[in-house]
Amino acid sequence: MKFHQMNWQQRLAAIETTANLEASEKDLFINNYSAINEQMVENYLTSFTLPEGILPNIVVNNQQYQVPMVTEEPSVIAAASNGARMINMGGGVKVTSTSREMLGQVLINEAHFTAVHELVNQQQTTLISIGNAAHPSMLQRGGGLKRITTRDLGDGFVSVDLHIDTQAAMGANVVNTISEAVANYLRGQNVGNIVMAILSNLATESLVTARVALPFKVLAKAGFNANDIAQRIVLANQFSQRDPYRATTENKGVMNGIDAVVMASGNDWRAISAGIHAFASREGQYRNLVTWTHDETTLYGEITVPLPVGVVGGSIGIVPLVKANHKILQVHSANELAAIIAAVGLAQNLSALRALVTSGIQAGHMQLQLKSLALAVGATIDEVPTLVNKLQQATHADMQTAQQLLTEMREK
Ligand code: MEV
Repeated sequence: MKFHQMNWQQRLAAIETTANLEASEKDLFINNYSAINEQMVENYLTSFTLPEGILPNIVVNNQQYQVPMVTEEPSVIAAASNGARMINMGGGVKVTSTSREMLGQVLINEAHFTAVHELVNQQQTTLISIGNAAHPSMLQRGGGLKRITTRDLGDGFVSVDLHIDTQAAMGANVVNTISEAVANYLRGQNVGNIVMAILSNLATESLVTARVALPFKVLAKAGFNANDIAQRIVLANQFSQRDPYRATTENKGVMNGIDAVVMASGNDWRAISAGIHAFASREGQYRNLVTWTHDETTLYGEITVPLPVGVVGGSIGIVPLVKANHKILQVHSANELAAIIAAVGLAQNLSALRALVTSGIQAGHMQLQLKSLALAVGATIDEVPTLVNKLQQATHADMQTAQQLLTEMREK
Protein backbone atom coordinates (compact mmCIF):
# COMPACT_ATOMS: atom_id res chain seq x y z
CA MET A 1 0.00 0.00 0.00
CA LYS A 2 1.21 3.52 -0.80
CA PHE A 3 1.57 6.06 2.00
CA HIS A 4 -1.31 8.22 0.82
CA GLN A 5 -3.61 5.17 0.76
CA MET A 6 -2.84 4.35 4.42
CA ASN A 7 -4.70 5.89 7.32
CA TRP A 8 -2.73 7.80 9.95
CA GLN A 9 -2.23 4.77 12.26
CA GLN A 10 -0.97 2.66 9.35
CA ARG A 11 1.47 5.32 8.21
CA LEU A 12 2.82 5.78 11.70
CA ALA A 13 3.20 2.01 12.12
CA ALA A 14 5.07 1.80 8.80
CA ILE A 15 7.45 4.62 9.81
CA GLU A 16 7.91 3.11 13.25
CA THR A 17 9.17 -0.08 11.61
CA THR A 18 11.40 1.45 8.92
CA ALA A 19 12.92 4.06 11.26
CA ASN A 20 13.06 1.71 14.21
CA LEU A 21 11.39 4.28 16.48
CA GLU A 22 11.52 3.75 20.23
CA ALA A 23 8.18 3.81 22.08
CA SER A 24 8.97 7.26 23.51
CA GLU A 25 9.71 8.57 20.01
CA LYS A 26 6.48 7.15 18.65
CA ASP A 27 4.67 8.92 21.48
CA LEU A 28 5.97 12.25 20.17
CA PHE A 29 4.12 11.62 16.91
CA ILE A 30 0.98 10.51 18.74
CA ASN A 31 0.93 13.32 21.29
CA ASN A 32 1.26 15.98 18.60
CA TYR A 33 -1.47 14.53 16.36
CA SER A 34 -3.98 17.12 15.19
CA ALA A 35 -7.13 16.21 13.28
CA ILE A 36 -7.11 19.65 11.63
CA ASN A 37 -3.51 19.38 10.52
CA GLU A 38 -4.18 15.90 9.15
CA GLN A 39 -6.59 17.54 6.71
CA MET A 40 -4.00 20.07 5.59
CA VAL A 41 -1.23 17.90 4.10
CA GLU A 42 -0.72 14.60 2.31
CA ASN A 43 0.87 11.69 4.19
CA TYR A 44 0.33 13.41 7.55
CA LEU A 45 2.36 12.02 10.48
CA THR A 46 2.28 14.61 13.25
CA SER A 47 2.48 18.32 13.98
CA PHE A 48 5.89 19.88 14.27
CA THR A 49 5.91 22.61 16.88
CA LEU A 50 8.19 25.63 17.24
CA PRO A 51 8.48 28.10 20.11
CA GLU A 52 6.18 31.11 19.99
CA GLY A 53 6.92 34.21 22.05
CA ILE A 54 5.65 37.76 22.24
CA LEU A 55 7.18 41.08 21.33
CA PRO A 56 5.35 43.00 24.05
CA ASN A 57 5.17 46.46 22.52
CA ILE A 58 6.05 48.05 19.22
CA VAL A 59 4.55 51.37 18.21
CA VAL A 60 3.58 51.47 14.54
CA ASN A 61 1.81 54.51 13.09
CA ASN A 62 1.13 55.75 16.63
CA GLN A 63 -0.53 52.53 17.75
CA GLN A 64 0.87 49.97 20.20
CA TYR A 65 0.92 46.34 19.14
CA GLN A 66 1.72 43.06 20.85
CA VAL A 67 3.28 40.81 18.25
CA PRO A 68 3.44 37.00 18.41
CA MET A 69 6.65 35.62 16.89
CA VAL A 70 7.46 32.02 15.95
CA THR A 71 11.12 31.09 15.85
CA GLU A 72 13.56 28.44 17.00
CA GLU A 73 16.47 30.91 17.34
CA PRO A 74 17.08 31.83 21.00
CA SER A 75 17.94 35.52 20.61
CA VAL A 76 15.37 36.65 18.03
CA ILE A 77 12.49 37.75 20.26
CA ALA A 78 14.83 39.31 22.81
CA ALA A 79 16.53 41.29 20.04
CA ALA A 80 13.23 42.39 18.49
CA SER A 81 11.97 43.55 21.88
CA ASN A 82 15.18 45.46 22.50
CA GLY A 83 15.03 47.10 19.06
CA ALA A 84 11.36 47.98 19.60
CA ARG A 85 12.15 49.50 23.01
CA MET A 86 14.62 51.95 21.40
CA ILE A 87 12.31 52.65 18.47
CA ASN A 88 9.35 53.34 20.79
CA MET A 89 11.49 55.83 22.72
CA GLY A 90 12.04 57.61 19.39
CA GLY A 91 8.29 57.81 18.70
CA GLY A 92 7.77 54.49 16.95
CA VAL A 93 7.77 53.38 13.34
CA LYS A 94 6.01 55.23 10.55
CA VAL A 95 4.88 52.93 7.77
CA THR A 96 3.48 53.70 4.33
CA SER A 97 2.43 51.24 1.64
CA THR A 98 1.81 51.26 -2.08
CA SER A 99 -1.49 50.04 -3.48
CA ARG A 100 -1.68 46.38 -2.62
CA GLU A 101 -1.82 44.19 -5.72
CA MET A 102 -0.58 40.74 -6.62
CA LEU A 103 0.81 39.77 -10.00
CA GLY A 104 -0.25 36.79 -12.06
CA GLN A 105 1.78 35.79 -15.10
CA VAL A 106 0.69 34.18 -18.35
CA LEU A 107 3.93 33.01 -19.93
CA ILE A 108 4.11 32.74 -23.70
CA ASN A 109 6.93 31.76 -26.04
CA GLU A 110 7.19 31.67 -29.85
CA ALA A 111 5.44 35.02 -29.60
CA HIS A 112 5.77 38.37 -31.34
CA PHE A 113 5.87 40.82 -28.49
CA THR A 114 4.12 43.59 -30.43
CA ALA A 115 1.28 41.26 -31.44
CA VAL A 116 0.73 40.15 -27.82
CA HIS A 117 1.01 43.71 -26.57
CA GLU A 118 -1.57 44.98 -29.09
CA LEU A 119 -3.96 42.14 -28.41
CA VAL A 120 -3.77 42.77 -24.66
CA ASN A 121 -4.40 46.48 -25.19
CA GLN A 122 -7.25 46.01 -27.63
CA GLN A 123 -8.97 43.28 -25.66
CA GLN A 124 -8.13 44.57 -22.17
CA THR A 125 -11.81 44.86 -21.17
CA THR A 126 -12.67 41.39 -22.44
CA LEU A 127 -9.64 39.84 -20.76
CA ILE A 128 -10.45 41.55 -17.46
CA SER A 129 -14.04 40.28 -17.61
CA ILE A 130 -12.86 36.75 -18.37
CA GLY A 131 -10.42 36.85 -15.47
CA ASN A 132 -12.96 38.24 -13.03
CA ALA A 133 -15.66 35.79 -14.13
CA ALA A 134 -13.35 33.02 -12.90
CA HIS A 135 -13.49 34.47 -9.36
CA PRO A 136 -16.69 36.50 -9.03
CA SER A 137 -16.62 36.74 -5.23
CA MET A 138 -13.34 38.69 -5.30
CA LEU A 139 -14.91 41.11 -7.77
CA GLN A 140 -17.95 41.48 -5.52
CA ARG A 141 -15.68 42.41 -2.62
CA GLY A 142 -14.18 45.21 -4.70
CA GLY A 143 -11.06 43.29 -5.70
CA GLY A 144 -10.16 41.18 -8.73
CA LEU A 145 -8.25 41.71 -11.97
CA LYS A 146 -7.67 45.45 -12.43
CA ARG A 147 -5.36 45.79 -15.44
CA ILE A 148 -3.06 43.82 -17.70
CA THR A 149 0.40 44.76 -18.94
CA THR A 150 3.02 42.96 -21.03
CA ARG A 151 6.77 42.52 -20.78
CA ASP A 152 9.14 41.49 -23.55
CA LEU A 153 11.54 38.88 -22.12
CA GLY A 154 13.47 38.54 -25.41
CA ASP A 155 13.77 35.75 -28.00
CA GLY A 156 10.01 35.41 -28.38
CA PHE A 157 9.40 35.00 -24.63
CA VAL A 158 6.64 37.26 -23.28
CA SER A 159 5.02 37.71 -19.88
CA VAL A 160 1.43 38.93 -19.73
CA ASP A 161 1.17 40.43 -16.24
CA LEU A 162 -2.19 40.45 -14.51
CA HIS A 163 -2.52 43.03 -11.73
CA ILE A 164 -4.94 41.61 -9.20
CA ASP A 165 -6.36 43.14 -6.03
CA THR A 166 -6.79 40.28 -3.55
CA GLN A 167 -8.23 42.47 -0.75
CA ALA A 168 -7.54 41.08 2.74
CA ALA A 169 -6.14 37.75 1.46
CA MET A 170 -2.65 36.90 0.26
CA GLY A 171 -4.69 35.40 -2.55
CA ALA A 172 -2.44 32.83 -4.24
CA ASN A 173 -5.45 30.73 -5.25
CA VAL A 174 -7.38 33.73 -6.53
CA VAL A 175 -4.44 34.87 -8.64
CA ASN A 176 -3.82 31.41 -10.05
CA THR A 177 -7.50 30.87 -10.90
CA ILE A 178 -7.77 34.23 -12.68
CA SER A 179 -4.44 33.73 -14.47
CA GLU A 180 -5.42 30.29 -15.74
CA ALA A 181 -8.74 31.63 -17.05
CA VAL A 182 -6.96 34.38 -19.00
CA ALA A 183 -4.37 31.87 -20.26
CA ASN A 184 -7.14 29.59 -21.53
CA TYR A 185 -8.71 32.44 -23.46
CA LEU A 186 -5.35 33.46 -24.93
CA ARG A 187 -4.79 29.87 -26.12
CA GLY A 188 -7.54 30.44 -28.67
CA GLN A 189 -6.07 33.74 -29.88
CA ASN A 190 -3.07 32.47 -31.82
CA VAL A 191 -0.50 34.70 -30.08
CA GLY A 192 2.16 32.05 -29.48
CA ASN A 193 2.66 29.05 -27.27
CA ILE A 194 0.91 29.59 -23.90
CA VAL A 195 3.29 27.69 -21.62
CA MET A 196 1.73 28.30 -18.21
CA ALA A 197 -0.01 30.66 -15.83
CA ILE A 198 1.01 31.28 -12.21
CA LEU A 199 1.29 34.07 -9.66
CA SER A 200 4.63 35.84 -9.21
CA ASN A 201 6.10 35.96 -5.72
CA LEU A 202 8.06 39.07 -6.63
CA ALA A 203 5.29 41.27 -5.25
CA THR A 204 6.56 44.67 -6.40
CA GLU A 205 3.00 45.98 -6.29
CA SER A 206 2.75 45.33 -2.53
CA LEU A 207 5.63 47.40 -1.20
CA VAL A 208 5.78 48.58 2.38
CA THR A 209 8.18 51.23 3.69
CA ALA A 210 8.89 51.59 7.40
CA ARG A 211 10.91 54.52 8.79
CA VAL A 212 12.31 55.48 12.18
CA ALA A 213 14.05 58.65 13.38
CA LEU A 214 15.97 57.96 16.58
CA PRO A 215 17.61 60.66 18.71
CA PHE A 216 21.09 59.29 19.49
CA LYS A 217 20.31 59.07 23.21
CA VAL A 218 17.86 56.15 22.71
CA LEU A 219 20.85 54.04 21.58
CA ALA A 220 22.63 54.54 24.93
CA LYS A 221 24.51 51.52 26.26
CA ALA A 222 26.75 51.28 29.33
CA GLY A 223 30.39 51.76 28.39
CA PHE A 224 29.64 53.22 24.94
CA ASN A 225 28.95 56.67 23.56
CA ALA A 226 25.52 56.94 21.92
CA ASN A 227 26.80 59.21 19.11
CA ASP A 228 29.52 56.69 18.29
CA ILE A 229 26.98 53.88 18.25
CA ALA A 230 24.88 55.77 15.70
CA GLN A 231 27.89 56.40 13.48
CA ARG A 232 29.03 52.81 13.69
CA ILE A 233 25.55 51.51 12.83
CA VAL A 234 25.66 53.61 9.66
CA LEU A 235 29.14 52.30 8.88
CA ALA A 236 28.09 48.69 9.49
CA ASN A 237 25.21 49.23 7.12
CA GLN A 238 27.52 50.65 4.43
CA PHE A 239 29.34 47.32 4.28
CA SER A 240 26.06 45.65 3.34
CA GLN A 241 25.56 48.15 0.53
CA ARG A 242 28.91 47.17 -0.93
CA ASP A 243 29.21 43.50 -0.16
CA PRO A 244 26.62 40.79 -0.88
CA TYR A 245 28.29 38.51 1.71
CA ARG A 246 27.57 41.00 4.47
CA ALA A 247 24.20 42.05 2.95
CA THR A 248 23.01 38.44 3.08
CA THR A 249 23.79 38.20 6.79
CA GLU A 250 22.28 41.56 7.60
CA ASN A 251 19.14 40.62 5.67
CA LYS A 252 19.03 37.25 7.42
CA GLY A 253 18.81 39.21 10.65
CA VAL A 254 15.93 41.28 9.25
CA MET A 255 14.21 38.07 8.14
CA ASN A 256 14.59 36.69 11.68
CA GLY A 257 11.90 39.20 12.62
CA ILE A 258 9.87 39.23 9.42
CA ASP A 259 9.56 35.45 9.07
CA ALA A 260 8.71 35.01 12.75
CA VAL A 261 5.65 37.26 12.43
CA VAL A 262 4.75 35.94 8.98
CA MET A 263 4.67 32.43 10.48
CA ALA A 264 2.76 33.41 13.61
CA SER A 265 0.15 35.14 11.44
CA GLY A 266 -0.32 32.02 9.30
CA ASN A 267 1.18 33.49 6.15
CA ASP A 268 3.43 31.80 3.58
CA TRP A 269 6.97 32.56 4.73
CA ARG A 270 8.57 30.91 1.68
CA ALA A 271 6.66 33.26 -0.60
CA ILE A 272 7.58 36.29 1.49
CA SER A 273 11.25 35.29 1.75
CA ALA A 274 11.59 34.53 -1.97
CA GLY A 275 10.00 37.87 -2.85
CA ILE A 276 12.08 39.89 -0.42
CA HIS A 277 15.40 38.39 -1.48
CA ALA A 278 14.59 38.87 -5.17
CA PHE A 279 13.64 42.48 -4.37
CA ALA A 280 17.00 42.93 -2.61
CA SER A 281 18.67 42.10 -5.96
CA ARG A 282 16.61 44.50 -8.06
CA GLU A 283 19.64 46.65 -8.98
CA GLY A 284 21.56 43.65 -10.29
CA GLN A 285 23.47 43.14 -7.04
CA TYR A 286 22.11 41.63 -3.84
CA ARG A 287 21.93 44.48 -1.32
CA ASN A 288 20.76 45.21 2.21
CA LEU A 289 17.07 45.85 2.81
CA VAL A 290 17.52 48.46 5.54
CA THR A 291 19.36 51.75 5.09
CA TRP A 292 20.74 53.75 8.05
CA THR A 293 21.87 57.37 7.85
CA HIS A 294 22.41 60.07 10.46
CA ASP A 295 22.71 63.80 10.92
CA GLU A 296 24.06 65.69 13.98
CA THR A 297 21.46 64.40 16.42
CA THR A 298 19.41 61.63 14.87
CA LEU A 299 19.79 58.17 13.38
CA TYR A 300 17.40 57.43 10.50
CA GLY A 301 16.43 53.92 9.45
CA GLU A 302 14.35 52.85 6.49
CA ILE A 303 13.26 49.52 5.05
CA THR A 304 11.24 48.83 1.91
CA VAL A 305 10.04 45.29 1.29
CA PRO A 306 7.32 43.53 -0.66
CA LEU A 307 4.87 42.10 1.90
CA PRO A 308 1.84 40.54 0.24
CA VAL A 309 0.48 39.04 3.46
CA GLY A 310 -3.15 38.33 4.24
CA VAL A 311 -5.43 38.47 7.26
CA VAL A 312 -7.92 35.96 5.82
CA GLY A 313 -7.59 32.82 3.68
CA GLY A 314 -5.00 30.05 3.59
CA SER A 315 -4.29 28.56 7.00
CA ILE A 316 -5.47 31.73 8.77
CA GLY A 317 -9.07 30.63 9.20
CA ILE A 318 -8.17 27.02 9.89
CA VAL A 319 -5.38 26.79 12.46
CA PRO A 320 -6.71 27.69 15.94
CA LEU A 321 -3.38 29.08 17.18
CA VAL A 322 -3.13 31.34 14.14
CA LYS A 323 -6.63 32.63 14.87
CA ALA A 324 -5.61 33.33 18.47
CA ASN A 325 -2.48 35.13 17.20
CA HIS A 326 -4.66 37.41 15.10
CA LYS A 327 -6.63 38.26 18.24
CA ILE A 328 -3.35 39.24 19.93
CA LEU A 329 -2.27 41.27 16.91
CA GLN A 330 -5.61 43.13 16.63
CA VAL A 331 -5.07 44.05 12.99
CA HIS A 332 -7.96 44.96 10.77
CA SER A 333 -6.42 44.87 7.33
CA ALA A 334 -3.64 43.22 5.36
CA ASN A 335 -1.89 46.61 5.10
CA GLU A 336 -1.87 46.95 8.89
CA LEU A 337 -0.33 43.50 9.31
CA ALA A 338 2.27 44.26 6.63
CA ALA A 339 3.14 47.51 8.45
CA ILE A 340 3.80 45.64 11.70
CA ILE A 341 5.93 43.03 9.93
CA ALA A 342 8.10 45.68 8.26
CA ALA A 343 8.44 47.48 11.61
CA VAL A 344 9.58 44.29 13.36
CA GLY A 345 12.17 43.72 10.59
CA LEU A 346 13.56 47.18 11.21
CA ALA A 347 13.60 46.69 15.01
CA GLN A 348 15.41 43.38 14.57
CA ASN A 349 18.06 44.98 12.38
CA LEU A 350 18.60 47.92 14.74
CA SER A 351 19.15 45.60 17.66
CA ALA A 352 21.56 43.35 15.72
CA LEU A 353 23.66 46.23 14.36
CA ARG A 354 23.83 47.98 17.74
CA ALA A 355 25.06 44.77 19.35
CA LEU A 356 27.52 44.06 16.54
CA VAL A 357 29.16 47.50 16.67
CA THR A 358 29.38 47.57 20.47
CA SER A 359 29.92 44.47 22.60
CA GLY A 360 29.54 42.00 19.71
CA ILE A 361 26.74 39.57 19.12
CA GLN A 362 27.91 36.76 21.37
CA ALA A 363 27.69 38.66 24.66
CA GLY A 364 23.94 39.16 24.43
CA HIS A 365 23.30 35.79 22.81
CA MET A 366 25.28 33.78 25.30
CA GLN A 367 22.75 33.44 28.11
CA LEU A 368 20.15 32.22 25.62
CA GLN A 369 22.58 30.05 23.66
CA LEU A 370 23.74 28.36 26.86
CA LYS A 371 20.19 27.22 27.55
CA SER A 372 20.06 25.63 24.12
CA LEU A 373 23.47 24.07 24.69
CA ALA A 374 22.33 22.60 28.02
CA LEU A 375 19.24 21.11 26.35
CA ALA A 376 21.33 19.82 23.43
CA VAL A 377 23.51 17.70 25.74
CA GLY A 378 20.43 16.20 27.36
CA ALA A 379 19.91 18.29 30.51
CA THR A 380 16.39 18.02 31.93
CA ILE A 381 14.35 21.20 32.41
CA ASP A 382 15.27 21.08 36.14
CA GLU A 383 18.98 20.72 35.39
CA VAL A 384 19.13 23.60 32.86
CA PRO A 385 19.59 26.56 35.31
CA THR A 386 22.46 24.88 37.21
CA LEU A 387 24.18 23.78 34.03
CA VAL A 388 23.82 27.26 32.48
CA ASN A 389 25.39 28.69 35.63
CA LYS A 390 28.34 26.35 35.39
CA LEU A 391 28.75 27.04 31.65
CA GLN A 392 28.89 30.78 32.32
CA GLN A 393 31.93 30.19 34.49
CA ALA A 394 33.62 27.74 32.12
CA THR A 395 36.44 28.91 29.81
CA HIS A 396 34.91 27.25 26.74
CA ALA A 397 31.14 26.92 26.66
CA ASP A 398 31.01 24.16 24.06
CA MET A 399 29.29 20.77 23.69
CA GLN A 400 32.15 18.84 25.22
CA THR A 401 32.33 21.05 28.30
CA ALA A 402 28.54 21.00 28.69
CA GLN A 403 28.49 17.21 28.47
CA GLN A 404 31.29 16.90 31.01
CA LEU A 405 29.66 19.37 33.45
CA LEU A 406 26.34 17.57 33.17
CA THR A 407 27.98 14.23 33.92
CA GLU A 408 29.74 15.73 36.98
CA MET A 409 26.45 17.26 38.17
CA ARG A 410 24.73 13.89 37.94
CA GLU A 411 27.55 12.06 39.67
CA LYS A 412 27.30 14.36 42.71
C1 MEV B 1 21.75 36.31 13.56
O1 MEV B 1 20.65 35.45 13.48
C2 MEV B 1 21.50 37.61 12.83
C3 MEV B 1 22.72 38.53 12.68
O2 MEV B 1 23.80 37.82 12.09
C4 MEV B 1 22.30 39.70 11.82
C5 MEV B 1 23.44 40.59 11.39
O3 MEV B 1 24.59 40.14 11.33
O4 MEV B 1 23.14 41.75 11.06
C6 MEV B 1 23.18 39.01 14.03
